[in-house]
Amino acid sequence: AKEIISLQEVKNFQTRSEEFFPLNWYKEMLNDTPVYFDEKTNTWNVFKYKDVKQILTNHEIFSVEGPRTSISVGANNEEGTIPDNTNIMVDPPEHQKRRSLLSAAFTPRSLKNWQPRIQQIATELIDDIQKNSTVDIVQALAGPLPSMVITALFGVPVEDRSQFKHWVDILFQPYDKENQEEIERRKQEAAKEYYQYLYPIVVEKRSHPSEDILSDLIKAEVDGEKFTDDEIVRVSMFLLGAGVETTSHALANTFYSLLYDDQSLYQELRNDSDLVPKAVEEMLRYRFQIAKRDRTVKQDNDLLGPKMKKGDAVIAWMSAANMDEEMFEDPFSLNIYRSNNKKHLTFGKGQHFCLGAPLARLEITLALKTFLQNFSRIDPVESFELENSLTDSAPGQSLTHLPMKVYP
Ligand code: HEM
Repeated sequence: AKEIISLQEVKNFQTRSEEFFPLNWYKEMLNDTPVYFDEKTNTWNVFKYKDVKQILTNHEIFSVEGPRTSISVGANNEEGTIPDNTNIMVDPPEHQKRRSLLSAAFTPRSLKNWQPRIQQIATELIDDIQKNSTVDIVQALAGPLPSMVITALFGVPVEDRSQFKHWVDILFQPYDKENQEEIERRKQEAAKEYYQYLYPIVVEKRSHPSEDILSDLIKAEVDGEKFTDDEIVRVSMFLLGAGVETTSHALANTFYSLLYDDQSLYQELRNDSDLVPKAVEEMLRYRFQIAKRDRTVKQDNDLLGPKMKKGDAVIAWMSAANMDEEMFEDPFSLNIYRSNNKKHLTFGKGQHFCLGAPLARLEITLALKTFLQNFSRIDPVESFELENSLTDSAPGQSLTHLPMKVYP
């Protein structure tokens, strides 16, 4: 198992709310110390757009392989780990083949096939929201949608989906220094149960494939190589880790922004739903906090200024790069009309660019459009307290609750 870098220590945020939206910290870092070495965590921290991009794309110098990582998801037992030969977190040229195998499940054609299923889930969840009521949009939509979508796309029987979600919730609990042993134990148990549940389903699909992700992965073949049933089960756990919490976070934060950043935006989007994809992109730039990835230095270099040594850990703060004024005009304001908002680094950059980005974009766009069609107006709830409605998550701080008034 890799050593976990505790990024909470790089910046000890005083409150959850501050970590939820740390623009002041980014501003300070971008201005004063865009590349700095943090003694406590023994890591380089990098904030500027061009530097973050370099770290994510220059695999000759910055490797995704290394003994330390800032990501703690999944379980570290036999069932919970990805077999070495299928792990996508490796450098080129090996990466290319592994990514190709996995991409078989993420083609534009599959995306088109899935659209009605995603739409149906969004419609069901939104139909369940009472008109003229106060709804907790995290509980009602942002939380359940991505895990319902991915279980549906996996082709898991409908009646098992809540059990499935239960495992997902445990497997991706964030790193917690105090309770780590207990969390590890629960993750290992969940990974075992998940494995025992899904394996027979994969075996069954191999003889009776249908239109779903697991079947696509079964059929995928690159240079004569195919996934085994065992690999598919374990790789599927990785997909859950990559795709569920992230998308929930993006969706919840989008509603937060509509309520608290710019209250006129909701009407604007209702009047012209063609603006929704632009809004989604700007939300990913402005409201997806705190995106960051780690890499390990492969060769001594001074590409970013200071001398970095082989073996050093480097953290690329993508959300900070998304606020770099050298890239984005007036970066600290929300503007769905900015022409280059798709250039945000929230999905990464280069060879590891998020394979699920088209899916995530589709989910958020469909959910938002459907919501806009059903409700004429949304209002904040006065008693809402941000500080008490946040929890530690892989991205940093995620909303557990977001109540709002909705009108038919
Ligand atoms: C990779 C973010 C949704 C599957 C990545 C990376 C980022 C990212 C930053 C690059 C990691 C790196 O360079 O080290 C996000 C965000 C999402 C999202 C912000 C939602 C808003 C999804 C979904 C799926 C997915 C829905 C699929 C179910 C993947 C995979 C990779 C990846 C397979 C690895 C690609 C590779 O290494 O070649 N994601 N992701 N992601 N993501 Fe996503």
